[in-house]
Amino acid sequence: MLLGPSQPCVLRVSSDAPVVPKAAEPLACRHRPQPRQHKSCAQNPQTHQKSSKRSVRMATSTTDRQAPPAPVIEGTSKAEQLQEPASIAYTPEWQELLEHRKEIEKTHLRDLLRREERSDALFHEYNGIVADFSRQRVTQKTIELLGKLAKRANLQEKIAGMFSGEHLNVTEDRAVLHVALRARREQKIVVEGKDVVPEVWEVLDKIKDFSERVRSGEWKGATGKPLKDVVAIGIGGSFLGPLFVHTALRTDQSAAHEAGKRNLRFLANVDPVDVARALNGLSQETTLVVVVSKTFTTAETMLNARTVRTWLTSELGPDAVAKHMVAVSTNSKLVTEFGIDPNNAFGFWDWVGGRYSVCSAVGVLPLALQYGWPVVEKFLAGANNMDEHFRTSKFEDNIPLWLGLTSVWNVSFLGYAARAILPYCQALSKLAPHIQQVSMESNGKGVDLAGRRLPFESGEIDFGEPGTNGQHSFYQLIHQGRVIPCEFIGTVKSQQSVYLKGEVVSNHDELMCNFFAQADALANGKTPVELRAENVPDHLIPHKSFTGNRPSVSILMPDLSAFSVGQLLAMYEHRVAVQGMVWGINSFDQWGVELGKVLASKVRTSMNSARTVHRRIKPSDGFNYSTTRLLNTYLAGKTQLLYPEPEDVFPCDLIDSAVCRPPTSYV
Ligand code: F6P
Repeated sequence: MLLGPSQPCVLRVSSDAPVVPKAAEPLACRHRPQPRQHKSCAQNPQTHQKSSKRSVRMATSTTDRQAPPAPVIEGTSKAEQLQEPASIAYTPEWQELLEHRKEIEKTHLRDLLRREERSDALFHEYNGIVADFSRQRVTQKTIELLGKLAKRANLQEKIAGMFSGEHLNVTEDRAVLHVALRARREQKIVVEGKDVVPEVWEVLDKIKDFSERVRSGEWKGATGKPLKDVVAIGIGGSFLGPLFVHTALRTDQSAAHEAGKRNLRFLANVDPVDVARALNGLSQETTLVVVVSKTFTTAETMLNARTVRTWLTSELGPDAVAKHMVAVSTNSKLVTEFGIDPNNAFGFWDWVGGRYSVCSAVGVLPLALQYGWPVVEKFLAGANNMDEHFRTSKFEDNIPLWLGLTSVWNVSFLGYAARAILPYCQALSKLAPHIQQVSMESNGKGVDLAGRRLPFESGEIDFGEPGTNGQHSFYQLIHQGRVIPCEFIGTVKSQQSVYLKGEVVSNHDELMCNFFAQADALANGKTPVELRAENVPDHLIPHKSFTGNRPSVSILMPDLSAFSVGQLLAMYEHRVAVQGMVWGINSFDQWGVELGKVLASKVRTSMNSARTVHRRIKPSDGFNYSTTRLLNTYLAGKTQLLYPEPEDVFPCDLIDSAVCRPPTSYV
């Protein structure tokens, strides 16, 4: 990514306030006098001399004479502070980018896009995937400075550390090795003296064997019928990634051919409406249930698993569990306690984060049951292909790396808090929901690796819809309201063809015309001068003007096959990791989801006890006035409903209302 000389400024545009770092704030645990609490607060190898290469390397960077002094962190000794590198925001490289922002403010994409050499330099290609960064608000200087920032953040060493099993997840003291899940059989990934690839393939081979037996009808249900329907129960990372891949493959012709008349459904939400939706029209006799939970403790998943187990056994008897329920988990003890035969459990490892687990049994088992092993193997090969690009490509040619660095530029220097993921491909309709978790659960953090409050906001707000649906929804805001960097994703070849004789273009061409046009509309905008030349009346000119200068990246793929879906998945996973590595945060833990879970548990206990003795929630239950009142309103409303309790109640079958068992009526 080497560009020609930066051009002079052509237009001054207004923009948001620069992202100037705040003074570092100490974490609460750092004020505590007990040294052990400091340790448990972050369990950070940087603060422990027993720690790995990474801490040594990072410590080295703090002693670099060019770095400004680290901010003083209350509650830590000077020695501790010296071991912990200052936030990246206190480095000269970050400050240079802040300064450089002023230059970029004077440019407009309309003018930047006129430079052929710049466009060439920002156009990247890898194994059929094109990523065009020319509509990012960057010049050659920006690229150089981002490269320097990446070096300061030890990005290449951190990437190498990820692939070699360093414990990058410092708060859980775990390696981050989702790349091992799609390693080729002959690859070696040695972690703490052990090659993990053979055990990965042991599970993959078991999945291949099991899925082939189910698909061929050799594996039969309790009444001797083949199992043609699969319900995968799981939530978060045990749901969103597999759903994304399933949605992407179901319209691919070869995958659809392999699926035949088989069904794959997901049950994630504990909402009985989702239970109804997932089980609607299914017969227990032909249904295989896959309970997917890394921990096997997630409240929603376990209640849904018990619900569906009862749905099965009420019809087929208790022994049916052995034939109709299997599990994917790292917790074999709880799987066995639940009643699932350990032989029917598919394991994975604590070095796979939930949101990075699509390529483990979490995604591979349901997908292999639906599409067969050869399709899944291609998907894994695609992900591995992108892993190899990320691991081995030169810095300047590395697509996930530049996706990550330009995101850091947009978020931390240009101040754009959100990002829109806009696939011009209906089959990618579940990409944005998956990336919402991968990106926001990974990078929405408040503190750095050392547990210090971040002096900037990390992460970004992800949302998206397939084009052109999004155009007829929220694009108004993107064009004339807030500036939201956009990611346009399109394919050269559509999974499906529609072409009408006599139409100027096919449906896919029509779709892709929008893919090309929207990126330029955002970048170029429309000026009052242009509007006047079109005889637009004066009073409408402000309304019809577009400021332009709105950044986007265009990703064009040859097609959407199992292989390219794997590439796309890995590309997003790595770009998120790059952002976190530069920001100096732990992209692989998720403490932020815990507090709500604990409070829900408290509500559950109080709700149960109040209802059991027919009492109201009282102040002594420990909730604030608002929650007390809301709970009492809810409970009062519930007493008005008639349930056929104490029998088991299943949702209304949406087709056969004769078996409908919802609350029958209000009293
Ligand atoms: O919501 C938090 C979370 O821990 C996610 O990170 C994870 O993907 C999800 O819950 C499901 O967890 P499990 O697979 O253990 O049921």
